[in-house]
Amino acid sequence: MAEFAELNVDGKNYKLPIVEGTEQERGFDISKLRAESGLITLDTGFKNTGSTKSAVTFLDGEKGILRYRGYPIEQLAEKSTFLEVAYLLIYGELPSGQELYDFKSEIKKHQLVHEDMKTILQGFPSNAHPMGVLSSLATSLTAFFPESLDPNRSPEQINLTIIRLLAKIPTLVAWSYTNARGIQANYPNNNLEYVSNFLKMMFDTPNEEYEVDPNVLEAMEKIFILHADHEQNCSTSTVRFVGSSQANLYASVAAGINALWGPLHGGANQKVIEMLQNIKNNGGDTKKFLDKAKDPNDPFRLMGFGHRVYKNFDPRALILKKRADKILERLGVDDPELEIAKKLEEAALKDDYFVERKLYPNVDFYSGIIMNAIGIPVDMFPVMFTIGRLPGWIAQWKEMRLHKEPIGRPRQIYVGSPERPYVEISDRS
Ligand code: ACO
Repeated sequence: MAEFAELNVDGKNYKLPIVEGTEQERGFDISKLRAESGLITLDTGFKNTGSTKSAVTFLDGEKGILRYRGYPIEQLAEKSTFLEVAYLLIYGELPSGQELYDFKSEIKKHQLVHEDMKTILQGFPSNAHPMGVLSSLATSLTAFFPESLDPNRSPEQINLTIIRLLAKIPTLVAWSYTNARGIQANYPNNNLEYVSNFLKMMFDTPNEEYEVDPNVLEAMEKIFILHADHEQNCSTSTVRFVGSSQANLYASVAAGINALWGPLHGGANQKVIEMLQNIKNNGGDTKKFLDKAKDPNDPFRLMGFGHRVYKNFDPRALILKKRADKILERLGVDDPELEIAKKLEEAALKDDYFVERKLYPNVDFYSGIIMNAIGIPVDMFPVMFTIGRLPGWIAQWKEMRLHKEPIGRPRQIYVGSPERPYVEISDRS
Protein backbone atom coordinates (compact mmCIF):
# COMPACT_ATOMS: atom_id res chain seq x y z
CA MET A 1 0.00 0.00 0.00
CA ALA A 2 1.23 3.47 -0.87
CA GLU A 3 2.49 5.61 2.00
CA PHE A 4 2.00 8.86 0.11
CA ALA A 5 -0.46 10.36 -2.31
CA GLU A 6 1.20 12.54 -4.89
CA LEU A 7 -0.15 15.81 -6.13
CA ASN A 8 1.29 17.44 -9.20
CA VAL A 9 0.59 21.13 -9.71
CA ASP A 10 2.33 23.36 -12.25
CA GLY A 11 5.03 20.74 -12.72
CA LYS A 12 5.82 20.50 -9.00
CA ASN A 13 5.23 17.30 -7.03
CA TYR A 14 3.90 17.23 -3.46
CA LYS A 15 3.86 14.13 -1.29
CA LEU A 16 0.87 13.82 1.02
CA PRO A 17 1.20 11.15 3.75
CA ILE A 18 -1.55 8.49 3.71
CA VAL A 19 -3.32 8.04 7.05
CA GLU A 20 -5.11 4.75 7.75
CA GLY A 21 -7.69 4.02 10.45
CA THR A 22 -8.49 0.84 12.39
CA GLU A 23 -11.06 -0.21 9.79
CA GLN A 24 -8.70 0.49 6.86
CA GLU A 25 -10.43 3.69 5.84
CA ARG A 26 -7.77 5.87 4.22
CA GLY A 27 -7.17 9.52 3.74
CA PHE A 28 -4.24 11.76 3.02
CA ASP A 29 -2.91 14.45 5.28
CA ILE A 30 -2.93 17.89 3.67
CA SER A 31 -2.08 19.89 6.82
CA LYS A 32 1.33 20.98 5.43
CA LEU A 33 0.16 21.46 1.84
CA ARG A 34 -0.41 25.21 2.06
CA ALA A 35 2.96 25.87 3.66
CA GLU A 36 4.69 23.87 0.91
CA SER A 37 2.63 24.91 -2.11
CA GLY A 38 0.36 27.87 -1.26
CA LEU A 39 -2.60 25.64 -2.16
CA ILE A 40 -5.59 24.87 0.02
CA THR A 41 -8.31 22.26 -0.49
CA LEU A 42 -11.92 23.32 -1.03
CA ASP A 43 -14.78 21.16 0.28
CA THR A 44 -17.86 23.19 1.21
CA GLY A 45 -19.94 21.34 3.80
CA PHE A 46 -16.93 19.10 4.57
CA LYS A 47 -18.42 16.36 2.38
CA ASN A 48 -15.07 14.63 2.00
CA THR A 49 -12.89 16.14 4.70
CA GLY A 50 -11.75 14.46 7.89
CA SER A 51 -11.55 16.97 10.73
CA THR A 52 -9.89 14.69 13.27
CA LYS A 53 -8.74 11.17 14.17
CA SER A 54 -11.25 9.80 16.65
CA ALA A 55 -11.53 6.60 18.68
CA VAL A 56 -15.13 7.15 19.83
CA THR A 57 -17.47 5.98 17.05
CA PHE A 58 -17.03 4.11 13.79
CA LEU A 59 -19.57 4.16 11.03
CA ASP A 60 -19.59 2.81 7.51
CA GLY A 61 -22.31 4.51 5.52
CA GLU A 62 -22.19 2.05 2.63
CA LYS A 63 -22.52 -1.05 4.82
CA GLY A 64 -24.84 0.55 7.40
CA ILE A 65 -22.42 -0.12 10.29
CA LEU A 66 -22.44 1.93 13.50
CA ARG A 67 -20.27 1.07 16.51
CA TYR A 68 -19.58 2.93 19.73
CA ARG A 69 -16.05 2.20 20.96
CA GLY A 70 -16.10 -0.94 18.81
CA TYR A 71 -19.44 -2.32 20.06
CA PRO A 72 -22.17 -2.74 17.40
CA ILE A 73 -25.15 -0.45 17.92
CA GLU A 74 -27.53 -3.41 17.56
CA GLN A 75 -25.96 -5.16 20.58
CA LEU A 76 -25.84 -2.00 22.68
CA ALA A 77 -29.48 -1.22 21.90
CA GLU A 78 -30.46 -4.77 22.81
CA LYS A 79 -28.45 -5.26 25.99
CA SER A 80 -27.35 -1.95 27.51
CA THR A 81 -28.93 0.88 29.39
CA PHE A 82 -28.44 4.48 28.31
CA LEU A 83 -26.16 5.27 31.26
CA GLU A 84 -23.93 2.27 30.49
CA VAL A 85 -23.61 3.56 26.94
CA ALA A 86 -22.90 7.07 28.23
CA TYR A 87 -20.11 5.65 30.42
CA LEU A 88 -18.73 3.66 27.47
CA LEU A 89 -18.59 6.71 25.23
CA ILE A 90 -17.13 9.07 27.82
CA TYR A 91 -14.62 6.74 29.53
CA GLY A 92 -13.88 4.35 26.66
CA GLU A 93 -14.95 1.00 28.21
CA LEU A 94 -18.18 -0.58 29.37
CA PRO A 95 -18.40 -0.10 33.15
CA SER A 96 -18.05 -2.91 35.68
CA GLY A 97 -20.98 -3.27 38.09
CA GLN A 98 -19.16 -1.14 40.69
CA GLU A 99 -18.14 1.52 38.15
CA LEU A 100 -21.72 1.81 36.93
CA TYR A 101 -23.02 2.05 40.50
CA ASP A 102 -20.51 4.84 41.30
CA PHE A 103 -21.31 6.66 38.05
CA LYS A 104 -25.04 6.58 38.75
CA SER A 105 -24.49 7.70 42.36
CA GLU A 106 -22.39 10.65 41.23
CA ILE A 107 -25.07 11.68 38.73
CA LYS A 108 -27.81 11.40 41.37
CA LYS A 109 -25.85 13.74 43.67
CA HIS A 110 -25.94 16.48 41.03
CA GLN A 111 -29.45 16.24 39.59
CA LEU A 112 -30.82 19.20 41.51
CA VAL A 113 -30.40 22.58 39.87
CA HIS A 114 -30.14 25.96 41.55
CA GLU A 115 -33.54 27.43 42.42
CA ASP A 116 -32.53 30.70 40.71
CA MET A 117 -32.66 28.80 37.41
CA LYS A 118 -36.44 29.03 37.77
CA THR A 119 -36.21 32.83 37.62
CA ILE A 120 -34.41 32.55 34.30
CA LEU A 121 -36.96 30.04 33.03
CA GLN A 122 -39.90 32.20 34.02
CA GLY A 123 -38.55 34.97 31.77
CA PHE A 124 -39.25 32.86 28.69
CA PRO A 125 -42.64 33.14 26.98
CA SER A 126 -44.62 29.90 27.23
CA ASN A 127 -44.43 29.37 23.46
CA ALA A 128 -40.63 29.61 23.33
CA HIS A 129 -39.16 26.63 21.48
CA PRO A 130 -37.68 24.25 24.07
CA MET A 131 -34.38 23.96 22.16
CA GLY A 132 -33.80 27.72 22.47
CA VAL A 133 -34.68 27.54 26.15
CA LEU A 134 -32.40 24.56 26.74
CA SER A 135 -29.37 26.05 25.02
CA SER A 136 -29.83 29.23 27.09
CA LEU A 137 -30.09 27.21 30.29
CA ALA A 138 -27.02 25.14 29.36
CA THR A 139 -25.06 28.38 28.91
CA SER A 140 -26.50 29.70 32.19
CA LEU A 141 -24.86 26.82 34.03
CA THR A 142 -21.53 28.64 33.50
CA ALA A 143 -22.83 31.39 35.79
CA PHE A 144 -23.62 28.91 38.55
CA PHE A 145 -20.27 27.12 38.23
CA PRO A 146 -17.78 29.88 37.33
CA GLU A 147 -14.85 27.62 38.19
CA SER A 148 -15.78 25.55 35.14
CA LEU A 149 -14.91 28.40 32.78
CA ASP A 150 -11.33 27.18 32.48
CA PRO A 151 -11.22 23.92 30.51
CA ASN A 152 -7.55 23.48 31.48
CA ARG A 153 -8.42 22.61 35.07
CA SER A 154 -7.64 19.23 36.63
CA PRO A 155 -9.19 16.05 35.16
CA GLU A 156 -11.25 15.80 38.39
CA GLN A 157 -12.73 19.26 37.82
CA ILE A 158 -13.47 18.44 34.19
CA ASN A 159 -15.12 15.22 35.27
CA LEU A 160 -17.28 17.13 37.75
CA THR A 161 -18.50 19.35 34.91
CA ILE A 162 -19.27 16.23 32.85
CA ILE A 163 -21.27 14.70 35.70
CA ARG A 164 -23.11 17.97 36.32
CA LEU A 165 -24.14 18.17 32.69
CA LEU A 166 -25.39 14.58 32.53
CA ALA A 167 -27.24 15.11 35.82
CA LYS A 168 -28.74 18.54 35.27
CA ILE A 169 -29.75 18.58 31.60
CA PRO A 170 -32.72 16.18 32.14
CA THR A 171 -33.86 18.29 35.11
CA LEU A 172 -33.63 21.46 33.01
CA VAL A 173 -35.52 19.81 30.14
CA ALA A 174 -38.31 18.71 32.49
CA TRP A 175 -38.45 22.14 34.15
CA SER A 176 -38.65 23.93 30.81
CA TYR A 177 -41.53 21.61 29.87
CA THR A 178 -43.50 22.17 33.09
CA ASN A 179 -42.74 25.90 33.04
CA ALA A 180 -44.10 26.26 29.50
CA ARG A 181 -47.31 24.61 30.69
CA GLY A 182 -47.57 26.73 33.83
CA ILE A 183 -47.24 23.68 36.09
CA GLN A 184 -45.01 23.55 39.14
CA ALA A 185 -41.57 22.01 38.60
CA ASN A 186 -40.91 18.47 39.79
CA TYR A 187 -37.71 17.64 41.63
CA PRO A 188 -35.42 14.72 40.84
CA ASN A 189 -35.95 11.56 42.86
CA ASN A 190 -32.74 9.72 43.73
CA ASN A 191 -34.62 6.47 44.22
CA LEU A 192 -35.35 6.31 40.53
CA GLU A 193 -33.13 5.34 37.62
CA TYR A 194 -32.01 8.04 35.18
CA VAL A 195 -34.67 7.69 32.46
CA SER A 196 -37.59 6.92 34.84
CA ASN A 197 -36.62 9.91 36.93
CA PHE A 198 -36.61 12.09 33.83
CA LEU A 199 -40.06 10.88 32.69
CA LYS A 200 -41.49 11.47 36.17
CA MET A 201 -40.05 14.99 36.31
CA MET A 202 -41.61 15.69 32.91
CA PHE A 203 -45.06 14.24 33.41
CA ASP A 204 -45.93 14.19 37.13
CA THR A 205 -48.54 16.84 37.87
CA PRO A 206 -49.69 18.03 41.31
CA ASN A 207 -53.03 16.25 40.84
CA GLU A 208 -51.83 13.10 39.10
CA GLU A 209 -48.82 10.90 39.59
CA TYR A 210 -47.30 9.67 36.34
CA GLU A 211 -46.83 5.91 36.23
CA VAL A 212 -43.80 4.99 34.16
CA ASP A 213 -44.96 2.36 31.67
CA PRO A 214 -42.14 -0.19 31.15
CA ASN A 215 -42.78 -0.05 27.38
CA VAL A 216 -42.35 3.71 27.34
CA LEU A 217 -39.23 3.38 29.49
CA GLU A 218 -37.74 0.79 27.15
CA ALA A 219 -38.54 2.89 24.10
CA MET A 220 -36.90 6.00 25.58
CA GLU A 221 -33.80 4.03 26.68
CA LYS A 222 -33.43 2.71 23.11
CA ILE A 223 -33.99 6.11 21.52
CA PHE A 224 -31.37 7.68 23.80
CA ILE A 225 -28.86 4.88 23.07
CA LEU A 226 -29.38 5.11 19.31
CA HIS A 227 -28.80 8.86 19.39
CA ALA A 228 -25.84 8.83 21.78
CA ASP A 229 -23.09 9.48 19.22
CA HIS A 230 -22.62 9.68 15.49
CA GLU A 231 -19.00 10.72 14.97
CA GLN A 232 -18.32 14.09 13.29
CA ASN A 233 -21.91 15.20 12.50
CA CYS A 234 -22.94 18.87 12.45
CA SER A 235 -23.65 19.31 16.18
CA THR A 236 -20.69 17.21 17.36
CA SER A 237 -18.32 19.06 15.04
CA THR A 238 -19.80 22.28 16.46
CA VAL A 239 -19.10 21.13 20.03
CA ARG A 240 -15.51 20.23 19.11
CA PHE A 241 -15.08 23.44 17.13
CA VAL A 242 -16.36 25.71 19.90
CA GLY A 243 -14.34 23.74 22.45
CA SER A 244 -11.22 24.14 20.32
CA SER A 245 -11.17 27.85 21.22
CA GLN A 246 -10.99 26.63 24.85
CA ALA A 247 -14.56 27.68 25.53
CA ASN A 248 -15.85 25.70 28.51
CA LEU A 249 -17.83 22.49 28.20
CA TYR A 250 -21.24 24.04 29.08
CA ALA A 251 -20.79 26.67 26.36
CA SER A 252 -19.61 24.05 23.87
CA VAL A 253 -22.63 21.85 24.59
CA ALA A 254 -24.98 24.85 24.32
CA ALA A 255 -23.54 25.48 20.84
CA GLY A 256 -24.15 21.80 20.01
CA ILE A 257 -27.79 22.17 21.07
CA ASN A 258 -28.22 25.08 18.68
CA ALA A 259 -26.62 23.16 15.81
CA LEU A 260 -28.81 20.14 16.52
CA TRP A 261 -31.96 22.26 16.46
CA GLY A 262 -31.87 22.73 12.67
CA PRO A 263 -34.46 20.78 10.64
CA LEU A 264 -31.72 19.19 8.52
CA HIS A 265 -30.24 17.67 11.68
CA GLY A 266 -31.89 16.91 15.05
CA GLY A 267 -34.90 19.13 14.33
CA ALA A 268 -35.94 16.66 11.60
CA ASN A 269 -37.84 14.38 14.02
CA GLN A 270 -40.27 17.22 14.80
CA LYS A 271 -40.58 18.03 11.10
CA VAL A 272 -41.32 14.36 10.27
CA ILE A 273 -44.44 14.31 12.45
CA GLU A 274 -45.54 17.74 11.23
CA MET A 275 -45.13 16.47 7.65
CA LEU A 276 -47.08 13.25 8.36
CA GLN A 277 -49.86 15.26 10.04
CA ASN A 278 -49.91 17.58 7.05
CA ILE A 279 -50.24 14.60 4.68
CA LYS A 280 -53.03 13.19 6.87
CA ASN A 281 -54.86 16.52 6.84
CA ASN A 282 -54.53 16.56 3.04
CA GLY A 283 -56.43 13.29 2.72
CA GLY A 284 -53.36 11.03 2.98
CA ASP A 285 -52.13 11.92 -0.51
CA THR A 286 -48.50 10.72 -0.24
CA LYS A 287 -47.91 11.08 -3.99
CA LYS A 288 -48.49 14.83 -3.83
CA PHE A 289 -45.79 15.17 -1.16
CA LEU A 290 -43.37 12.88 -3.00
CA ASP A 291 -43.80 15.03 -6.10
CA LYS A 292 -43.18 18.16 -4.08
CA ALA A 293 -39.99 16.63 -2.63
CA LYS A 294 -38.78 15.76 -6.14
CA ASP A 295 -39.49 19.19 -7.60
CA PRO A 296 -36.16 21.07 -7.82
CA ASN A 297 -38.06 24.38 -7.64
CA ASP A 298 -39.81 23.46 -4.40
CA PRO A 299 -37.72 23.74 -1.20
CA PHE A 300 -39.81 20.97 0.43
CA ARG A 301 -37.85 17.82 1.34
CA LEU A 302 -39.13 14.53 2.58
CA MET A 303 -38.24 14.92 6.23
CA GLY A 304 -36.59 11.90 7.83
CA PHE A 305 -35.18 10.84 4.46
CA GLY A 306 -31.58 10.97 3.28
CA HIS A 307 -28.32 11.12 5.14
CA ARG A 308 -24.90 12.57 4.48
CA VAL A 309 -23.11 9.32 5.26
CA TYR A 310 -25.66 6.47 5.11
CA LYS A 311 -26.23 5.63 1.48
CA ASN A 312 -27.92 2.21 1.79
CA PHE A 313 -29.72 2.25 5.11
CA ASP A 314 -29.44 3.85 8.52
CA PRO A 315 -28.97 1.01 11.04
CA ARG A 316 -30.64 3.11 13.75
CA ALA A 317 -33.75 3.54 11.59
CA LEU A 318 -33.83 -0.21 11.01
CA ILE A 319 -33.78 -0.91 14.77
CA LEU A 320 -36.51 1.65 15.45
CA LYS A 321 -38.65 0.54 12.51
CA LYS A 322 -38.68 -3.02 13.87
CA ARG A 323 -39.66 -1.69 17.28
CA ALA A 324 -42.21 0.93 16.21
CA ASP A 325 -44.93 -1.60 15.40
CA LYS A 326 -44.26 -3.63 18.53
CA ILE A 327 -44.18 -0.62 20.85
CA LEU A 328 -47.35 0.87 19.39
CA GLU A 329 -49.12 -2.48 19.64
CA ARG A 330 -48.04 -2.99 23.27
CA LEU A 331 -49.13 0.55 24.14
CA GLY A 332 -52.43 -0.03 22.39
CA VAL A 333 -51.87 3.01 20.17
CA ASP A 334 -53.52 3.05 16.77
CA ASP A 335 -51.42 5.67 15.05
CA PRO A 336 -52.65 6.94 11.66
CA GLU A 337 -49.28 8.69 11.22
CA LEU A 338 -47.52 5.31 11.32
CA GLU A 339 -49.69 4.06 8.46
CA ILE A 340 -48.92 7.18 6.41
CA ALA A 341 -45.23 6.82 7.23
CA LYS A 342 -45.23 3.23 5.97
CA LYS A 343 -47.06 4.21 2.79
CA LEU A 344 -44.65 7.07 2.19
CA GLU A 345 -41.60 4.91 2.83
CA GLU A 346 -42.86 2.17 0.50
CA ALA A 347 -43.56 4.65 -2.29
CA ALA A 348 -40.24 6.49 -1.87
CA LEU A 349 -38.18 3.30 -1.84
CA LYS A 350 -39.65 2.37 -5.25
CA ASP A 351 -39.29 5.83 -6.73
CA ASP A 352 -36.38 6.40 -9.14
CA TYR A 353 -35.63 9.85 -7.70
CA PHE A 354 -35.03 8.44 -4.21
CA VAL A 355 -33.36 5.23 -5.43
CA GLU A 356 -30.89 7.09 -7.67
CA ARG A 357 -29.95 9.50 -4.90
CA LYS A 358 -29.76 6.70 -2.31
CA LEU A 359 -32.29 8.40 -0.04
CA TYR A 360 -33.54 6.09 2.73
CA PRO A 361 -35.40 6.74 5.98
CA ASN A 362 -33.03 7.98 8.68
CA VAL A 363 -33.28 7.63 12.45
CA ASP A 364 -35.56 10.66 12.74
CA PHE A 365 -38.24 9.06 10.60
CA TYR A 366 -39.11 6.40 13.17
CA SER A 367 -37.98 8.09 16.41
CA GLY A 368 -40.60 10.79 15.76
CA ILE A 369 -43.34 8.19 15.32
CA ILE A 370 -42.41 6.37 18.52
CA MET A 371 -42.12 9.53 20.60
CA ASN A 372 -45.43 10.76 19.25
CA ALA A 373 -47.06 7.48 20.28
CA ILE A 374 -45.69 7.62 23.81
CA GLY A 375 -46.96 11.12 24.42
CA ILE A 376 -43.86 13.27 24.04
CA PRO A 377 -45.01 16.66 22.68
CA VAL A 378 -43.76 17.23 19.15
CA ASP A 379 -41.73 20.36 19.93
CA MET A 380 -39.85 18.35 22.60
CA PHE A 381 -38.55 15.75 20.10
CA PRO A 382 -35.29 17.58 19.34
CA VAL A 383 -34.83 18.02 23.09
CA MET A 384 -35.07 14.24 23.55
CA PHE A 385 -32.41 13.91 20.86
CA THR A 386 -30.28 16.33 22.90
CA ILE A 387 -30.48 14.19 26.04
CA GLY A 388 -29.45 11.19 23.94
CA ARG A 389 -26.59 12.97 22.15
CA LEU A 390 -25.13 14.59 25.28
CA PRO A 391 -22.71 11.72 26.16
CA GLY A 392 -21.40 11.73 22.58
CA TRP A 393 -20.75 15.47 22.63
CA ILE A 394 -18.99 15.13 25.97
CA ALA A 395 -16.86 12.18 24.79
CA GLN A 396 -15.87 14.04 21.62
CA TRP A 397 -15.11 17.28 23.49
CA LYS A 398 -13.00 15.34 25.98
CA GLU A 399 -11.10 13.60 23.18
CA MET A 400 -10.49 16.90 21.41
CA ARG A 401 -9.05 18.38 24.63
CA LEU A 402 -6.92 15.27 25.40
CA HIS A 403 -5.45 15.38 21.90
CA LYS A 404 -4.68 19.08 22.45
CA GLU A 405 -6.25 19.81 19.08
CA PRO A 406 -5.56 23.30 17.70
CA ILE A 407 -8.27 25.91 17.32
CA GLY A 408 -10.58 25.08 14.40
CA ARG A 409 -10.04 27.62 11.67
CA PRO A 410 -10.83 26.65 8.06
CA ARG A 411 -9.48 28.53 5.05
CA GLN A 412 -11.47 29.94 2.15
CA ILE A 413 -11.14 30.90 -1.48
CA TYR A 414 -12.02 34.59 -1.65
CA VAL A 415 -14.30 35.45 -4.59
CA GLY A 416 -15.33 39.01 -3.62
CA SER A 417 -14.35 42.35 -5.09
CA PRO A 418 -10.66 43.04 -5.71
CA GLU A 419 -9.18 46.04 -3.85
CA ARG A 420 -10.98 49.31 -4.60
CA PRO A 421 -10.76 52.85 -3.18
CA TYR A 422 -13.20 54.06 -0.50
CA VAL A 423 -16.24 55.97 -1.86
CA GLU A 424 -17.37 59.03 0.13
CA ILE A 425 -21.10 58.95 1.08
CA SER A 426 -21.82 62.02 -1.07
CA ASP A 427 -20.40 60.20 -4.13
CA ARG A 428 -22.43 57.00 -3.71
CA SER A 429 -25.34 56.62 -6.10
N1 ACO B 1 -36.10 14.84 0.07
C1 ACO B 1 -35.95 15.11 -1.26
N2 ACO B 1 -34.75 15.20 -1.88
C2 ACO B 1 -33.65 15.04 -1.11
C3 ACO B 1 -33.72 14.73 0.27
C4 ACO B 1 -35.01 14.64 0.85
N3 ACO B 1 -35.13 14.38 2.16
N4 ACO B 1 -32.48 14.63 0.77
C5 ACO B 1 -31.63 14.82 -0.26
N5 ACO B 1 -32.33 15.07 -1.41
C6 ACO B 1 -31.79 15.27 -2.76
C7 ACO B 1 -31.20 16.65 -2.92
O1 ACO B 1 -32.16 17.58 -3.38
C8 ACO B 1 -30.10 16.38 -3.91
O2 ACO B 1 -30.71 16.26 -5.18
P1 ACO B 1 -29.94 16.77 -6.51
O3 ACO B 1 -28.70 15.90 -6.60
O4 ACO B 1 -30.90 16.56 -7.62
O5 ACO B 1 -29.60 18.21 -6.27
C9 ACO B 1 -29.58 15.01 -3.53
O6 ACO B 1 -30.70 14.36 -2.91
C10 ACO B 1 -28.41 15.03 -2.56
O7 ACO B 1 -28.79 15.79 -1.43
P2 ACO B 1 -27.80 16.70 -0.59
O8 ACO B 1 -28.59 17.79 0.07
O9 ACO B 1 -26.63 17.10 -1.45
O10 ACO B 1 -27.26 15.67 0.47
P3 ACO B 1 -26.56 16.04 1.84
O11 ACO B 1 -25.69 14.91 2.19
O12 ACO B 1 -25.94 17.40 1.76
O13 ACO B 1 -27.82 16.17 2.86
C11 ACO B 1 -29.48 15.66 4.46
C12 ACO B 1 -28.16 15.21 3.78
C13 ACO B 1 -29.27 17.08 5.01
C14 ACO B 1 -29.76 14.72 5.62
C15 ACO B 1 -30.61 15.63 3.41
O14 ACO B 1 -30.81 14.31 2.94
C16 ACO B 1 -31.93 16.18 3.98
O15 ACO B 1 -32.15 17.39 3.93
N6 ACO B 1 -32.83 15.29 4.53
C17 ACO B 1 -34.06 15.74 5.14
C18 ACO B 1 -33.81 16.24 6.56
C19 ACO B 1 -33.50 15.11 7.52
O16 ACO B 1 -34.19 14.10 7.57
N7 ACO B 1 -32.45 15.31 8.33
C20 ACO B 1 -32.05 14.36 9.38
C21 ACO B 1 -30.73 13.74 9.06
S1 ACO B 1 -30.32 12.51 10.24
C22 ACO B 1 -29.78 13.36 11.58
O17 ACO B 1 -29.29 14.42 11.54
C23 ACO B 1 -29.95 12.66 12.85
